[in-house]
Amino acid sequence: MEKNFDVIVIGSGPGGYVCAIRSAQLGLKTACVESRDTLGGTCLNVGCIPSKSLLNLSDSYNKAQKEFNSQGIELSNVKLNLSKMMNSKNKSVSILTKGIEFLFKKNKITHLKGKGFIESKDSISVTGNDGKTSKYKAKNIVISTGSVPASLPGIKIDEKIVVSSTGALSFNQIPKDLVIIGGGYIGLEMGSVWKRLGSRVTVIEFLNNIIPEMDQDISAEFLKILKKQGIDFKLDSKVSAVQVKGNKAVVSFTNQENSKNEKIECDKVLVAVGRKPNINSDVNKLGIKLDNYKRIDVNEKFETSIKNIYAIGDVIKGPMLAHKAEDEGIAVAEIIAGQAGHVNYNVIPAVIYTSPEVASVGKTEAQLKKENIKYKIGKFPFLANSRAKVNNHSEGFVKILAEEKTDKVLGVHMIGPHVGEMIAEMALAMEFGASSEDIARTCHAHPTHSEAIKEAALAVDKRPIHF
Ligand code: NAI
Repeated sequence: MEKNFDVIVIGSGPGGYVCAIRSAQLGLKTACVESRDTLGGTCLNVGCIPSKSLLNLSDSYNKAQKEFNSQGIELSNVKLNLSKMMNSKNKSVSILTKGIEFLFKKNKITHLKGKGFIESKDSISVTGNDGKTSKYKAKNIVISTGSVPASLPGIKIDEKIVVSSTGALSFNQIPKDLVIIGGGYIGLEMGSVWKRLGSRVTVIEFLNNIIPEMDQDISAEFLKILKKQGIDFKLDSKVSAVQVKGNKAVVSFTNQENSKNEKIECDKVLVAVGRKPNINSDVNKLGIKLDNYKRIDVNEKFETSIKNIYAIGDVIKGPMLAHKAEDEGIAVAEIIAGQAGHVNYNVIPAVIYTSPEVASVGKTEAQLKKENIKYKIGKFPFLANSRAKVNNHSEGFVKILAEEKTDKVLGVHMIGPHVGEMIAEMALAMEFGASSEDIARTCHAHPTHSEAIKEAALAVDKRPIHF
């Protein structure tokens, strides 16, 4: 087997595999090391893909149970077969991970199976499942080892009763009572899945709002909608202990406002309080510099403190999102090949795939206020959007923030049907430096949900048509 490469990428998640493909496209001899049996990292194996599969399937079940009959689609016996549903999810994962194997072959990328260890600035070793170690040389090394779930002091994740997102994707029974610690992306997506499938769900959140980094109007509306769906929230609450007793757990927490101590007994606890960079011992051994948050420190070219060793994705600063890692993977491959790779961090969309969906790009009102930027707001409710109305899903709104003088769009925040797809239009508009007037003058097909964007843009200038 070939032992010398132009680029060796460590980790095959969205950052790593995309970096490997782009490197190969640019004519660089490329290998990618992966210790999991399948390619695709957290996203494909135990993250974005299986969770979106379960969100889609549980949404169908929920609609079949609660909506279809009243709409004239009479189903006599809606029954859940959880193991079949899990098989369907596993099949989707398997198809997609195999897809990356195919792309590696197509692009002549060497897939090194095993755990990679950076020995020096231009050599790595790979130890396979059989314990055998092989050495390889690389002119450039890209660290793309992702992140792992974080926990809280004194709380042990056993992936049986106390689980991370990985365990919550594979329960073999519907938990009667599920307690989720953390009201962020994972907590609210997985909480939605299990609520729809029949669990009683309680989310305990440290702060006094959910998804705290999103625009406050959105998080307030989102909380209202999720409560209406039956999810229980304990906000401003600090978990002090989780005790496992047989097949049950008891979660103890304190309401920080009134100092009241409470306990909930449940069947499963999902710890979803964020993720931390997956920094392997080679990084510390080589003395690669970390930043104050224990992430690998990189410059604007993704170079670490050791020349020719680069890092991308969840191990470096920025949002822990698959598409951010992908864009960094492309940029670093282009930089290694002598081109001008670049990522625009002002325009990274974020989506929560609940029902309704939540999506945002650019600055929130709180950020604009903090940066002393004067802005105008245009808001339009889906209640006044004909497509949302005829589909009987008209919760939520679109909110556009535009710079007061120039009218340039600085941020877009949406909650409502299909907004996870609609946000791409706004990311594109912002990449091109669009004003709200540009969006308002763009013809949007009728009847579509995306007309709510046009109307919100008109509302920036106080002239929406349908509201
Ligand atoms: P997160 O950062 O989204 O949310 C964690 C939540 O836990 C925050 O609201 C925080 O205030 C709360 N929290 C922290 N300590 C706490 C404590 N002691 N008690 C109660 N609450 C506490 O993290 P999450 O949900 O674990 O997701 C991890 C990463 O995965 C995120 O960075 C996210 O970007 C990514 N992700 C993205 C998805 C998407 O793009 N749709 C889906 C799932 C995950």
